Amino acid sequence: MNKGIAVYPGSFDPPTNGHLDLIERGSKMFEQLVVAVLRNSEKVPMFSLAERLEMLRQLTAGWSNVRIDTFDGLMVEYAKSIDAMCVLRGIRAISDYEYELQMALMNRKLEPTLETVFMMPAVKYSYVSSRLVREVAQAGGPVKDLVPEAVEQKLLAKLDPAYKLRDNVIEVPAKKLTLERKTPEKKRKNKA
Ligand code: PNS
Repeated sequence: MNKGIAVYPGSFDPPTNGHLDLIERGSKMFEQLVVAVLRNSEKVPMFSLAERLEMLRQLTAGWSNVRIDTFDGLMVEYAKSIDAMCVLRGIRAISDYEYELQMALMNRKLEPTLETVFMMPAVKYSYVSSRLVREVAQAGGPVKDLVPEAVEQKLLAKLDPAYKLRDNVIEVPAKKLTLERKTPEKKRKNKA
């Protein structure tokens, strides 16, 4: 096992500023950090696997030692397959602790040589979760400061297709919006 390789597994549906904060901290601590997105979760995701990978790749492009990957099945098996010695997980509050402890101990039972390392994100992200971000966005609330700008745009585009036209996020060729009035002359030509 390579002491320098760590895996940061999760759903990342969508990636939040809290995730990015942890990725930044992890990238400073490990030689290589592999952000691994679970492929077949029981939950129906808001963003497809391809969308989450694209977002994460874009958001982490600035860190040369961060790689984005996917995994399926047992996380410990995946960690072994990439030669990782550590699993990185974030703990925001005591409420996270119980679930994380259970998962870390189960993973240790499955693979005793794999260590789980917990890191705390910045306090300003201590209440941010993908679930709450989805909930707020779905109810039309603002998610600025909770997710990167690129993710905010993706959320808005996914939830409100009209937004794209309203705020000119995508350019609509002027010609397509102009209704052409048919003059009697044109009508005659068309019939001919
Ligand atoms: O971001 P999440 O949803 O809290 O991440 C949970 C995740 C993906 C890390 C966890 O569900 C996982 O590792 N799933 C893979 C299956 C597995 O190994 N289960 C046993 C772990 S106790």
